[in-house]
Amino acid sequence: MHKWQTLADIRREYGTSSLLENEAAISPMEQFEHWFAEVLKVEKTDPSAMVLSTCDECGYPDSRVVLLKGIENNKLVFFTNYNSHKAKQIQQTPYVSLNFHWPEMARQVRVKGTIQKIESQRSDNYFITRPLTSQVNALLSQQSSVLATRAQLEQQIKEYIVENAGRPLLRPAHWGGYEVEPTDWEFWQGRDNRCHDRLHYYQAHDAWLIERLSP
Ligand SMILES: Cc1cc2nc3c(=O)[nH]c(=O)nc-3n(C[C@H](O)[C@H](O)[C@H](O)COP(=O)(O)O)c2cc1C
Repeated sequence: MHKWQTLADIRREYGTSSLLENEAAISPMEQFEHWFAEVLKVEKTDPSAMVLSTCDECGYPDSRVVLLKGIENNKLVFFTNYNSHKAKQIQQTPYVSLNFHWPEMARQVRVKGTIQKIESQRSDNYFITRPLTSQVNALLSQQSSVLATRAQLEQQIKEYIVENAGRPLLRPAHWGGYEVEPTDWEFWQGRDNRCHDRLHYYQAHDAWLIERLSP
């Protein structure tokens, strides 16, 4: 048997859920919130995980998973290190895409949009809600830079926790939130016999329009 034979056999039917035009919300954010509420009930692992794609300096797309931490003013918010690779890429090209994949419900949501940092006060507010180890990690990690050894970082974290015991930690300037303002959305509902639903929301004259895309 060819070594990829088993991969070729991986396929499934997707079930009876649908996304028809008369079921879709007028606003894509409303549709997203509706789907997300359903997903939260069934998707056990990282339902808020989304693939964030940016462009590097050569124009290559670069993708990684981050966690959606809020929806505010119709924008999707996540947190990261402001000196990381993604942050440098965002500074150069403030256009990104997001991709949510929820296998239990056979759903995918694709978003394209513009991105900017959130106000520092909002990052402060979120930082103080994080567990201590996450705070210390945000303070010490020089995300995406080369690290000599794992032990070095672990030692730094240990020492920092001992030295700062009992003190509330403040958000470092190099860590905070970004918000993505969507300009395009696509909602994909897997259906049996590969006859999937794909609804594309796009903006025209300040209104959201919907078109159906071929699966
Ligand atoms: C499930 C999951 C959730 C993650 N959540 C975040 C996150 O919210 N923020 C973040 O900066 N990195 C997160 N990461 C790590 C990123 O994928 C990535 O390794 C890191 O941000 C560095 O990316 P960069 O070098 O492209 O800047 C997560 C990874 C996984 C697998």
